[in-house]
Amino acid sequence: MDKKKHFLVTAALPYANGPVHIGHLAGCYLPADIFVRYLRSCGTDVKFICGSDEHGVPITIKAKKEGITPQQVVDKYNGIMKKSFEDFGITFDHYSRTTNPIHHQTASDFFRTLYDKNVFVEETTEQFYDEEAKQFLADRYITGTCPKCSNPKAYGDQCEKCGSTLNATDLIDPHSALSGSKPVLRKTKNWFLPLDKLQPDIERYIAARKNIFRPTAYGQCRSWLDQQLQPRAMTRDLDWGVKVPVKDAEGKVLYVWFDAPIGYISATKELLPNDWERYWKKQPNEKDNASLIHFIGKDNIVFHCIIFPAMLMAHGDFIVPENVPANEFLNLEGDKISTSRNWAVWLNEYLEEMPDREDELRYVLTSIAPETKDSEFTWKDYQARINNELCSILGNFVNRVMVLTAQNFESRVPEAASASVNEAFAPVAEKVFGLRQNIAAELDKYNFREAMSLCMDLARVGNKYLQENEPWKLVKQDKAAAGSVLHHGLTICHELAVCLQPFLPNTAAKLFAMLQATPENAAWDKPSGSFALQAGTMLGASEILFKKVEDADIEKQIQKLQATKAAMPESSAPAADLLPQKEATTFDDFVKMDIRTGTILAAEKVSGADKLLKLTIDTGIDQRTVVSGIAMFFKPEEIVGKRVSILVNLLPRKLKGIVSNGMILMAENPDGKLVFVTPDEGALNGSSIK
Ligand code: MF3
Ligand code: ZN
Repeated sequence: MDKKKHFLVTAALPYANGPVHIGHLAGCYLPADIFVRYLRSCGTDVKFICGSDEHGVPITIKAKKEGITPQQVVDKYNGIMKKSFEDFGITFDHYSRTTNPIHHQTASDFFRTLYDKNVFVEETTEQFYDEEAKQFLADRYITGTCPKCSNPKAYGDQCEKCGSTLNATDLIDPHSALSGSKPVLRKTKNWFLPLDKLQPDIERYIAARKNIFRPTAYGQCRSWLDQQLQPRAMTRDLDWGVKVPVKDAEGKVLYVWFDAPIGYISATKELLPNDWERYWKKQPNEKDNASLIHFIGKDNIVFHCIIFPAMLMAHGDFIVPENVPANEFLNLEGDKISTSRNWAVWLNEYLEEMPDREDELRYVLTSIAPETKDSEFTWKDYQARINNELCSILGNFVNRVMVLTAQNFESRVPEAASASVNEAFAPVAEKVFGLRQNIAAELDKYNFREAMSLCMDLARVGNKYLQENEPWKLVKQDKAAAGSVLHHGLTICHELAVCLQPFLPNTAAKLFAMLQATPENAAWDKPSGSFALQAGTMLGASEILFKKVEDADIEKQIQKLQATKAAMPESSAPAADLLPQKEATTFDDFVKMDIRTGTILAAEKVSGADKLLKLTIDTGIDQRTVVSGIAMFFKPEEIVGKRVSILVNLLPRKLKGIVSNGMILMAENPDGKLVFVTPDEGALNGSSIK
């Protein structure tokens, strides 16, 4: 990573329709903040931008529900969110709002530029209209069954279950979210971004990011491109949003996913009225372009990796996102986090109920960060990680060094006077400085979870060093030697202070104060072996870094969640995420299917298809080839030998040139993950399932 560049880092603009919860934090705000703090500590020029996304249907629906205006909704939640981000220590350089006039102007100008360049396709199409509510239904105003995965609760713009982007008219059995009525189709004119025509540019853009994007983001982009991009309407027949700045567009506003990402630009303008172009516009010399990095959650991938880059390229003046670190989802105590179902740990409540525990939450959320797959927050795990890791490993190490120095050396940094102790410390020092470099290397690769875990390894090295040298005993025989051990122990504390800055900023600040050192002279790439501490320095007051979490503390939180669950209406309980029972069928129809038990003998990737594996199956009756769409979930080598259930009399199908003879049965979890339906051990290959 070129740290001499100028960085513009953004975190997804949250909808101002509810307070911030831990899913938001783990999804993008915390990793973005860690990254930005890291860059700042390297002396890199970085601006960190965010703000409230105040348009779009989620806001107007919330307003209806609460019986207030959309403006009142966004005023309320913008304030709550901004404050809890600040209180928690997310260090945005600027937190803006998309209802600000500067944003309306910027989004409007952007649209106008594309319009004047004839980028848009103007088209009259049939859109859903609610005759009871007397308005057009776009995006989240409409729900129905997803045509791709059959989720009955897909929205008109997106299915949250399988991640597909949809057009409202794709939905099966659509319903108005306003009145529940069946909508009718009505003609209306809108402006479409011709993603189909822009596909070659986007192909090039995505191809160049094959090894930059995380596999989920790259995979999603590939799959959209493989299905051929479709034109997408950039305007809506709604009254809440940025007015469409062309004639004949009364009653129309910009699509929220057109205006919101432009919010990153407007916020930068607000922060740097004279200098914002430095971070957004192509520079005369390409190598001087800024690095644009968007932190997001996985439901935002298509908008940041395809649609926004397409808009920027079509405009022409702007750089495109260099990286879009996208996290998967964080679940809470076994369920999907949901604002509308009130299933969340709300940040403002956490800050009140768990005072002075910001770093603890940062630690837990980073340790379980859903970087490559969904992960889960539970209060028991929160308690265990704080007590067994932060307190017992990190806090304990620092405390021992500080207390021993106070007791035996009047709290002054002892001399490293013992040659033999110094010599024995050399390999430890190497490990310590090696860890610092590895932490930086992981941060450069956006692997925050791994980097956090290496910080704990650093504390473990410190504990081991104390354990092996026992300065508390040594001091009675050889005070100079014990002093040298503590000198090195303090050096490790200083290393911890440096490395923890991006992750646990309050803890790092306490450590620097205790060591009477300043973060300024603590660069990441300082040559190994240079010790930052001056012998004789009077240390600052020793502080306990972390308090244990008592059972009673988390019991309260667990009970609170149980009360939420008890109050959940039946219809929104988690089981509702499962598909409803299908239409009745007959036994005769069922027995037409010949399902057998079998074993996977071999598995390999199908070239040119991200999702497919070619399997060789022993079905008992024969050995045959089956092509199965499970490559996103399993590595070929993991599944050889796996017992499976297979539909053997399915008509053969050709997939990517390979004839597939049958179908492996898979069970699908509510989060879209597939698992095998494995027969009990007693079933021999070829047994029929009935
Ligand atoms: N408001 C969107 C969400 O919460 C994110 C918008 S990101 C931006 O999913 F790029 F559009 F700003
Ligand atoms: Zn779906």
